[in-house]
Amino acid sequence: SFCGQCSSLSLSLSLSLSISLSPSQVLLVFAKEDGQSDAFWWACDRAGFRCNIARTPESAVECFLDKNHEIVVIDGRHSQYFEAEAVCRLVRATKPSEHTVLLAIVPQTSHPQTTHCTVHCVAHVSLSLSICRSGQRYVENISVSACYNELLQIEHGEVRCQFKLRACNSVFTALDHCQEAVEITSEDHVIQYVNPAFEHMMGYHKGELIGKELTELPKSDKNRADLLDTINTCIKKGKEWQGIYYARRKSGDSIQQHVKITPVIGQGGHSLRHRDRRKESVDARSISSRSSDAPSLQNRRYSSVARIHSMTIEAPITKVINIINAAQESSPVSVADALDRVLEILRTTELYSPQLASKEDDPHTNDLVGGLMSDGLRSLSGNEYVFSKNMSQLAIPVTLNDIPPAIAEMLDDEDQWDFNILELEAATCMRPLTYLGLKIFARFSVCEFLSCSEATLRCWLQVIEANYHASNSYHNSTHAADVLHATAYFLRKEKVKGSLDQLDEVAALIAATVHDVDHPGRTNSFLCNAGSELAILYNDTAVLESHHAALAFQLTVRDIKSNIFKNIDRTQFRTLRQAIIDMVLATEMTRHFEHVNKFANSINKPMAAIEDEGSDNEGPASIRNSPENRLLIKRMMIKCADVANPCRPLELCIEWAGRISEEYFSQTDEEKREALPVVMPVFDRNTCSIPKSQISFIDYFITDMFDAWDAFASLPGLMEHLSENYKYWKGLDDMKCKSLRPPSPP
Ligand SMILES: *[C@@H]1O[C@H](CO)[C@@H](O)[C@H](O)[C@H]1NC(C)=O
Ligand SMILES: *[C@@H]1O[C@H](CO)[C@@H](O)[C@H](O)[C@H]1NC(C)=O
Ligand SMILES: *[C@@H]1O[C@H](CO)[C@@H](O)[C@H](O)[C@H]1NC(C)=O
Ligand SMILES: *[C@@H]1O[C@H](CO)[C@@H](O)[C@H](O)[C@H]1NC(C)=O
Repeated sequence: SFCGQCSSLSLSLSLSLSISLSPSQVLLVFAKEDGQSDAFWWACDRAGFRCNIARTPESAVECFLDKNHEIVVIDGRHSQYFEAEAVCRLVRATKPSEHTVLLAIVPQTSHPQTTHCTVHCVAHVSLSLSICRSGQRYVENISVSACYNELLQIEHGEVRCQFKLRACNSVFTALDHCQEAVEITSEDHVIQYVNPAFEHMMGYHKGELIGKELTELPKSDKNRADLLDTINTCIKKGKEWQGIYYARRKSGDSIQQHVKITPVIGQGGHSLRHRDRRKESVDARSISSRSSDAPSLQNRRYSSVARIHSMTIEAPITKVINIINAAQESSPVSVADALDRVLEILRTTELYSPQLASKEDDPHTNDLVGGLMSDGLRSLSGNEYVFSKNMSQLAIPVTLNDIPPAIAEMLDDEDQWDFNILELEAATCMRPLTYLGLKIFARFSVCEFLSCSEATLRCWLQVIEANYHASNSYHNSTHAADVLHATAYFLRKEKVKGSLDQLDEVAALIAATVHDVDHPGRTNSFLCNAGSELAILYNDTAVLESHHAALAFQLTVRDIKSNIFKNIDRTQFRTLRQAIIDMVLATEMTRHFEHVNKFANSINKPMAAIEDEGSDNEGPASIRNSPENRLLIKRMMIKCADVANPCRPLELCIEWAGRISEEYFSQTDEEKREALPVVMPVFDRNTCSIPKSQISFIDYFITDMFDAWDAFASLPGLMEHLSENYKYWKGLDDMKCKSLRPPSPP
């Protein structure tokens, strides 16, 4: 039916106006490939544009006629090969070039001050005269980013404009052949366009209609005035109206028709009416869509921005951007401008990483950031880092039927923050994780939850502990025991306990136990630089954390004697497994700021707001208990447990600082020995100031995180230690002391 055809036609109108269907194509015209053509080539690659290179004006035209590139980049720096102007003319002489953007590369020296195409600069270089009028200029710059930016600007600006023009052309051609009557009016009801079907139906020639305001119906008709009101209200809200309408033909007869009126907001304020000839009697009357608050130019700009964003598959960030765009439309300019800056930030991919100036003043911070937060520059040097795979080298686990009384007594204090893990390390002959694990898992009824025997748990703890490397000075099983201890301590805090269920608790305790298993005592950056087996396996991404998580499950299920999960059902296992993996991966530092900021934004801020209102406890509990927020709480908990050393009593804090420094020193030693890039040069045993490195670590990673965690879990004891320890390191640094302790008096 006519109607069917035309409905689909009007749909394709709105789509084709905003969607660019295929990636742009770029033609590079360079007599000789050099840094500049390479830069554009890589910029195209980055932008996802297809790219061709032509070396002569003739081959350029041939290639252009074949592909109809949207953008043609012409090298105008060396006139000895060809005149850019001539290439320009050749391309412009072809029919498809009507919609093509030409970009001429001009030498830097010709334009001492300005990089913008102005009338003055055109005068400097004759070749750019014609190019500059019909196209654009690009001042020679071999930075891929500069080329990329240039291409994107053209793509978002002219290419899209040209695309829309072409789309309009086809749409109007289609409308001209459409069997249904279509008219387009401006927002003040002046007819802009009618198609032949409309002329035919109404008995007017378009010359009699275009540019004319539509005459109103006789005011006497009360029903009709009401109908008009209804329609106007609908249109003003930006909604489509459909219904039966009576209109008068040129011949004077009044006739019923089915009308659809679609407001076209933000594209010039036109409204599109589409009349359906389903009813035999035909009449055409225009309905005005007067909108007293016509959109300002500013607003139109935002709505077109909103459309561009709605093109991508809708991710949450797209929704956010659309909401902001919509808010901008009704905001004063100052707010709209502020929101523009917000949008700019939102569009960057690294939302949660502070943008460090490349030259952070403090080398310690720089090194920590470089060493812990990046995966390093990957260089396949062939220096394979070898893990100790020889299980028989590891101590054979003892059986733990009877925990020696001295150890048992020690473990009774396990619920205190000041518990001395180093004494436990010594007393258990380097098996602190197994003993502490038995105690803590029993206190949290983990065996009951998993329906597994204590013997299985023992066996599991021994297997896990055996896979920590005793040779690491920091990342050995004592660190795991320490993190388990902190996790258990946090789990007992009222707010934490109230937020999580038992599965979360069990997952957290297991995650803490396994979170660094088989740690090689080297950082992710090191492994990536060394091209280690693991870095290759995990694509240089969260290498160690992925390995800890994967190995933990392999070790667990490998032997039924140690499989603590063997008795839980599949669904529960999956949930538990997911939670454990998520927590282990959260210990990776590249996403440190993301986790901390999400926690602060989703947990701290809403809770503070509710507590300010002084309402009951219902509100905060519901904030905490959503699955998303429990996830954030668990991540934050294990992150804090993992780096809680600076919040421990001074003596423990000093010992941990010594151990981590030693591990980093040994990495630097190896990097030097193996001629690998030195990831953290400040951690050189000959020159390092341990107090400075601790101060930087606390400033950069610890303070904000523990402030947020303390605000939630309430940890005054930890915060006191933190501030004491910080003072201690400051004191040493003030004395220019580089070691762990002040020099002993003679
Ligand atoms: C080239 O472009 C880059 C990136 O936009 C810019 O930082 C640099 O200053 C430019 N170089 C010259 C010589 O203009
Ligand atoms: C593993 O270690 C044991 C004991 O140190 C040794 O006898 C054996 O040769 C080692 N095996 C390998 C493959 O290195
Ligand atoms: C951990 O490393 C330290 C050296 O920093 C060492 O004294 C301790 O015995 C190791 N602990 C374990 C359980 O391997
Ligand atoms: C690593 O990258 C390859 C190629 O993109 C992919 O197939 C593989 O699944 C990735 N591996 C991991 C562990 O992400």
